Amino acid sequence: MRSVISIADLTNDEIEEIFSLADDADKMRADRVAADRIMATLFYEPSTRTRLSFESAMQRLGGSVISCSDMKTSSTVKGETVADTAKVVSSYADVLVVRHNWDGAVQAMAEHADVPVINAGDGSHEHPTQTLCDLYTLRKEKGELKGLTVVVCGDLKNGRTIHSLVYALARFGANVVTLAANSMALPQYVLERLEREYDYALAPVGSDDLKAVVTETDALYLAPKQPHQLALYTQVDEVIQARLNSLATGLRYDAFYMTRKQKERMKEGTTGTSYPTIGSNFLREQRFRDTVVMHPLPRVDELSPEVDKDRRGIYFKQAAYGVPVRMALLKFLFDRRSEKRSRARVDPAPYRSPEPIGPQCRNPNCVTVKEPISSSRRFEILSPGQANALILACAYCDHRFKVQIAGNVQSKRYYVFDATLVGTLDDWLQKGDLALFDSIKEAEELGYEPFKSGPQRALMSEDEIAGALKSMGGQILRDCRELSRLLFLGVRGAGSHLAQRLANEVGKQAKRKPEVGEIEIYGSGDDLKRLSPDDPDAGPLNLKDREIILVDDVIFTGRTVKSALSIIFRSARPQSVRLAVLIDRGHREFPVKPNYVGKNIPSSESDRVRVKLREIDPGEPDQVIIYTIINPKEETPKPSHPADFAAK
Ligand code: CP
Repeated sequence: MRSVISIADLTNDEIEEIFSLADDADKMRADRVAADRIMATLFYEPSTRTRLSFESAMQRLGGSVISCSDMKTSSTVKGETVADTAKVVSSYADVLVVRHNWDGAVQAMAEHADVPVINAGDGSHEHPTQTLCDLYTLRKEKGELKGLTVVVCGDLKNGRTIHSLVYALARFGANVVTLAANSMALPQYVLERLEREYDYALAPVGSDDLKAVVTETDALYLAPKQPHQLALYTQVDEVIQARLNSLATGLRYDAFYMTRKQKERMKEGTTGTSYPTIGSNFLREQRFRDTVVMHPLPRVDELSPEVDKDRRGIYFKQAAYGVPVRMALLKFLFDRRSEKRSRARVDPAPYRSPEPIGPQCRNPNCVTVKEPISSSRRFEILSPGQANALILACAYCDHRFKVQIAGNVQSKRYYVFDATLVGTLDDWLQKGDLALFDSIKEAEELGYEPFKSGPQRALMSEDEIAGALKSMGGQILRDCRELSRLLFLGVRGAGSHLAQRLANEVGKQAKRKPEVGEIEIYGSGDDLKRLSPDDPDAGPLNLKDREIILVDDVIFTGRTVKSALSIIFRSARPQSVRLAVLIDRGHREFPVKPNYVGKNIPSSESDRVRVKLREIDPGEPDQVIIYTIINPKEETPKPSHPADFAAK
């Protein structure tokens, strides 16, 4: 039984097969390929196109449709879970088409249904059947998908159609330029998946071409990796910028994919920011003469009706293709009823906590948080090492977060993670002995004790740390071109406390305290946050044209810095980014070099360096310490490469 929850559930060949079937919609209609079959539509969120085109598709195939006209009149309001609803309705129908406002809810329903389930949009996660319509339309208009350049524009953060679309475009070898509205950039987890699974990377585009038609945004270019990715540099200097500008000017734009602001997914009071629009300017630009304009609809005011009459405005065609494409998808799934699972998605063995307490997805809109009883919490463990943490990806909503406490269920001991433990933890995972926790408190509540550590050696005292910060503050001030543009951005944790201290130093010396923000590498949404001034009316943190000082406590492999730079550059184009770290341990995997260093401590991979700060460990003096781990018997961790987890 095949369900389609993500665009990853279909291979490229299968998508091509669906398109061939769609080309022959009249034949499917004549053959009544769904006669005697019933489709149930369960829409927990409003819809015009998806629902009605699915219902029309089913009826044209000779099948029939049952539906809850409004889920607010269903037993959901009495408290029925999505799991129970799926189980029950799947005994009334041969296929379920579900739209839900929670990320991952349709996946949860598919796990409880006895018939195929199709995701008609789940929260801000995915909308795979819209992507099928988009690709079909693009292919009809442009022929091959490979090599096309598609500009995706608007609310890229909350737009589920965008997430499924960029994965699919990457798979078919197209290039993507992202033009995000203010604070609505593609989420980090989407970019990471593009990088990890499709070897795509992003670089800023000098978007003068695009600014002629779309204002209020910066562009990023996603393409198969090039040798000169900006994310590998710590500074945007004129040479790199010029190279990127020329890259942008040479681009041919095949399609503009516009989206509306997803107000229903935004917090109150955050919906009023400016938003890009496409209108008559676009039509007048000679270099866009063959650029088609797409939109999943509904539109609000981001796409002018002037474009409707132009041959390049193809969004009504895109909506009309919903019927043949969905007829084809239904036939495709009915023909594969006997198949157990998707051939497209080969999920690695998931991590499930062997203990009653374990990590929880940080996405507040994930079904595992909204309705834990309908889901079984599980995660993919991704390449660890960044920020000295294991990275977990939720199996329902794909959001990533970091976990630092890892224990062994047999020995009931726990570690604070570092990259040298990768091989050991992987062994434990294979044996089912790995227990991960969100905090030491959780581990200790379950009776776990810490692993023993070797003797600690102090590397920096409180006075030395204060001296290093003072000296770094002075250097930063000397290098600063314009104090009003200076922004300290700390990597969440020790980095953000050090950023505040450095900003205080600079403030003392310059008699004016610079702005301070925080960057979360593995957050579940808001990657960038203002720390001071903490004025609630100050609006989102603005990185454009700023002199950014990125601050972290320790630099080792350089991965954290690489991720932080990628978040910074997709948010806006700063004037410069310089890097300040208290400790540089060496062993770089990426060519990043800090501009300001408190102390260089070349240390072996098996050493553990910890920066203790009074903000994190109240009552204790500031200190930098180094130590090794002494482990009981066979659990001695062997140094290994941080990519080992990912490779398996
Ligand atoms: N494109 C799309 O999903 O439209 P509806 O919300 O009307 O289904």
